[in-house]
Amino acid sequence: MHKRPQNTAKKTLALAAVMALSIVVSGCGNDSKTDLANGKTLFIAKCGGCHTMARANTVGTQGPDIDDSFRQAREDGMGDTIQGVVEGQIKYPSQKLYPSSLVMPPNLVTGMDVNDVAAYVSYAAANPGKDSGALADIGGGTDGKGIFKTNCGSCHTLADAGTVGTTGPNLDQRKAPLARVLKQVTNGGNGMPAFGGTLTPEQIKLVSEYVAKVDGSQ
Ligand code: HEC
Ligand code: HEC
Repeated sequence: MHKRPQNTAKKTLALAAVMALSIVVSGCGNDSKTDLANGKTLFIAKCGGCHTMARANTVGTQGPDIDDSFRQAREDGMGDTIQGVVEGQIKYPSQKLYPSSLVMPPNLVTGMDVNDVAAYVSYAAANPGKDSGALADIGGGTDGKGIFKTNCGSCHTLADAGTVGTTGPNLDQRKAPLARVLKQVTNGGNGMPAFGGTLTPEQIKLVSEYVAKVDGSQ
């Protein structure tokens, strides 16, 4: 078993509680122009491959389960402090190994996108129920392309899906044949998580056929 590193979010939140008052006083709270829809879109594309978060329908396992990370803060009525913690993590990930060999790269999103992603996480993490309205329409595609964008794009570049992840190989260049894609997705390996336990056999088939088709290897 890997030794789990200390939960940085919980530590940072204790500090955030002390600082919350000064933030209110100085008036730099949430930006009113924050775009939650953009935040959700980016979370699915850039973060979901490594992080589970129920409202975004993501099931990544390379990093902590984001609902677990912020459940205590939510219960303690400190939901407002989550945004700042997430912004800090995006800019300065600890880059500790958790729990396997992949670290979180810094600056996966930049500029106003940082606020949007952090605002969406602050809204969604450990928040029971499902997204509604415009947010409900984002992500969760059930065809091969939708499954790829939600589960794979944050680590892999694939032109057809419009994803630009760099943790794993560029799949347009790798051109792995179908049998190898199926095997890799099911079993993982060399740093890639196994999806045999998180995606259904049907979803694995759909996403693998999609990759093998659009990368030009079939
Ligand atoms: C390649 C995998 C990977 C990607 C992509 C990734 N993360 Fe992480 N994330 C990790 C790992 C590993 C950790 C634990 C080590 C650390 O804190 O850096 C982590 C930690 C975190 C934490 C702290 C959770 C806790 O309990 O301490 C937050 C919050 C977080 N990530 C948010 C994000 C957001 C938001 C994005 C997208 C912009 C993102 N991550 C993208 C791997 C990833
Ligand atoms: C957390 C990051 C991460 C996620 C999420 C991820 N991969 Fe990977 N993937 C990797 C890494 C790292 C490798 C490199 C393994 C190697 O070089 O053998 C890899 C390798 C691959 C390969 C090449 C296999 C070969 O034999 O050449 C394919 C195809 C692939 N991934 C498809 C997918 C698909 C499809 C998904 C989503 C269901 C996915 N990956 C999700 C990191 C990831």
